Parts: sequence; structure tokens; C-alpha cells
Amino acid sequence: MTAVKIGLIGYGTVGSAVGRTIRSHQANLQAIFGKEVQVAGVLVREKQKYEQQVTDALLTDDAAELFSISDLDVIIEASVGIEPAFSYLTEAIHHGCHIITANKELIASRGAELKRLAKKKGVRLEYEAAVAGGVPVIGTLKQLLHINHVVKVEAILNGTSNFILTEMSDKGLPFEEALQLAQEAGFAEADPANDVDGWDAFYKLMVLSDLLFEAQPDWEKVTRKGIRSVSSQDIQAAGEQGWKIKHVATLENAGGEVTASVEPVILSAAHPLYSVDGVDNAVCVEGDLVGKLKLQGPGAGALPTASAIVEDLANLVHQRKEIEVKRVIKFTEKREAVPFVHL
Ligand code: NDP
Ligand code: HSE
Repeated sequence: MTAVKIGLIGYGTVGSAVGRTIRSHQANLQAIFGKEVQVAGVLVREKQKYEQQVTDALLTDDAAELFSISDLDVIIEASVGIEPAFSYLTEAIHHGCHIITANKELIASRGAELKRLAKKKGVRLEYEAAVAGGVPVIGTLKQLLHINHVVKVEAILNGTSNFILTEMSDKGLPFEEALQLAQEAGFAEADPANDVDGWDAFYKLMVLSDLLFEAQPDWEKVTRKGIRSVSSQDIQAAGEQGWKIKHVATLENAGGEVTASVEPVILSAAHPLYSVDGVDNAVCVEGDLVGKLKLQGPGAGALPTASAIVEDLANLVHQRKEIEVKRVIKFTEKREAVPFVHL
């Protein structure tokens, strides 16, 4: 019985956490796939940096070498930017691999092409980790899409910005110090300007727009402001009124016309995003049937993001025929009660 073979592109905060999680949760993955799930190869830019970490898989800086691994099942992409990621994923799809990516810039910019190609080739393209880190936003919204008419989304989509604003507000830290903490924690992008200038939240909002409305607003017409303009004095003054300043991404669908914005806003305590602090992200969705929903949780960081990726991986079994599904549930003595099912 051969293993499920995975190729990892990128082995930084996210890629390395995925590698560790596949090892630490191997039993769960094996129960789902019915066979070992193995990272067979890792592609990075500078392989010397990773020689101590990647010892049980092919480590390469040459994409051709990664794709020469026989019977690769899945490519997990956790690198940075549009290229060469787009070319790599295109090639992976042509090799018949399923794709899982955390790369929101890529999905916002070239996601439609990748989706079309994946569909044509009969492989899956999953990107839960690209929006709101560990919060299962994409999967949840996919369940809403069929009947509900979504009229509005208001969200906190950048963990780094929310973390910085919270540290500035709660601890009085200066912006630079709070940003450094976010970088040390692995929340920030390789270029943190993406976070603090609003690009990261913008890409995530465009991914949500594609998902909900199968369209994106004209990027030129989207207000995109980051948090650099928010001073400690602003935060303090808002706090004295019982308000908070939050970086909020908004998407509105008025009769088929989609408008969007990403900017710092002042929220009163009555707003559902007011209480979303630290690295948490939250997505508030208003659907015509369901009303108002709020999904909240860790929006960045190694393990929450790896969680979204390995859940995408586990979900591949729902449609993949080649990978045999064999879920085994063990009842241990410690488990005193289990939900009733007809036996
Ligand atoms: P890191 O900067 O920590 O790691 C990036 C990795 O990608 C490195 O291993 C780097 O290798 C590799 N890489 C970069 N360019 C290339 C290339 N051209 N070819 C091959 N490998 C390449 O980033 P993160 O792990 O934080 O983020 C990875 C992706 O996940 C990004 O798209 C990010 O937006 C997304 N993401 C990040 C989250 C987080 O909390 N950090 C959460 C959700 C999504 P090398 O060191 O050799 O350059
Ligand atoms: N830099 C991103 C953030 C990572 O802070 O939200 C998660 O996408």
C-alpha cells in the first residue's frame, strides 16, 4: 500500500508547521486516508537554510526535481507572491496533483484561472488557510452559498494589524514594537508592509468576493488603507469614549453591484467586531435567510494555519476516488459518553 505523497512548496512559518502537523497527527490522517500520509518533497528557494530541518524528505530548490517524484498526490503551497507559485501550481495541476494553498495574493490575483484549470483536470483546489488563518471561513461560506443571498460582509482579516492595534491599545506599546512582536510570533508577512498597508486584508476580501459573488470589484475602486496612520493618541482618544479603532474589511452587494473597502474604522461596543482582539480574525456575514453570522478565531500563526491546511487535506477524501477512504473511529475506555447513533 503506497503512501499519500505530498509535495510542500515553502518551509517557513506555515510550511514547516504543516510538516510538523502531518507528523504529529499522522494517526488521524492515516485513519482518514487508510494509509500513511508522507511529505515526500520540499521545495524552497535557498535549500541550505533548511538542511537541518528537512531530513526525511527530498529537499530541493529545483521545481523540476520536486515534480520528478513519482505519484505525487497533493501539492501544498505556502510560499510568497504570485510567481513562481502560479507556474508551480499550474504544473502541479497538469501532473494531476490536488492543490492546497495558503497564498491569498495568488488566489486573489489568479485564483479564477487556477480554479478553471483544476476543474478541467479533475483535481481539487483548496485554500481555506488563505483567509482568516485557522478560522474555517471558506468551508463555512461554501455551505451558505447555494440558497442564501449574501448582502454584506464585515470582517477583521489581518491578524498582524489587529494584534498591533490591540497591543497599542491595551499595553500602550508603540507601533514599531508591536509590529516586531507580531513578526517574532510568525503572524506577519515576509514583507510586513502587506499587513500594515492593508494589502493582505484586501487580497483576502477579494478571495471572499470571488467565493460569494463569483466576481471581484474593480481593484482601483476599492478603498485600501492600512493602520500606519493610526496613532497611540487616536487609540487613547477613542478608548476614552468607549470606542475602539479596528482595521475592517467590508464587502457589500447591492443588487449585484459589489463594493468593497479596507480601512481603519472606529467601532462602538455594540459592533460585533469590537470585541475581536489580538491576532484573532472575525468574519460577520449577513445572508437574507440566515441573518447575521460571526465566525471568529486565530487569524494567523503557525499552528492555526497548519490546522486549516491539514483540514483541507483531510477533506480531499470526500471526492477523491484514487485515495481510498477508510475512517476508523476507536472507542477508548476513557470516553464515557459518545453521541447516540443507531447501531
Ligand atoms: P515565510 O516567509 O515564513 O516562508 C515562506 C517560504 O516560502 C520559505 O520557506 C521560502 O523559502 C519559500 N519560498 C519563497 N519564495 C519561494 C520560491 N520562489 N520558490 C520556492 N520557495 C519559496 O512565510 P509564511 O510561512 O509566513 O507564509 C507562507 C504563505 O502562507 C504566504 O503566502 C502567506 O501569505 C500565507 N499565510 C501565512 C500565515 C501566517 O500566519 N504566517 C497565515 C495564513 C497564510 P526561502 O526561505 O528559501 O526563501
Ligand atoms: N500576515 C497575515 C496576517 C497572516 O497577519 O493576518 C495570515 O494570513
